[in-house]
Amino acid sequence: MDSIALIEADFVEPGTVLRVDVDGFPPLAVFNLEGVYFVCDDTCSHGEASLSEGTIEGDRIECPWHNGQFCIRTGAALTPPAVRPIAVYPVTLKDGIVFIPANRSNP
Ligand code: FES
Repeated sequence: MDSIALIEADFVEPGTVLRVDVDGFPPLAVFNLEGVYFVCDDTCSHGEASLSEGTIEGDRIECPWHNGQFCIRTGAALTPPAVRPIAVYPVTLKDGIVFIPANRSNP
């Protein structure tokens, strides 16, 4: 399967998230949770907030606008006003680079 390179893994410090923009995808958020990388949509499903500007709490990201929370692992909306999930993407690490599949699939 074709993959698309997002970012050098070292750029994303443990416990942090960075927004990445690549052609053909909505804005993406790349998380490093204790050395494990996750990628999901960066735009909140409630409004247009950038989730990478939010707060990580364990494996949750809290939206900076209205404090809705999402599971970073599954994209599930966990607390109101967020009710719709966000897309998550399978992650591959190769040669220190974070990849996701080039073919986008919706949750
Ligand atoms: S924009 Fe994210 S909870 Fe409202």
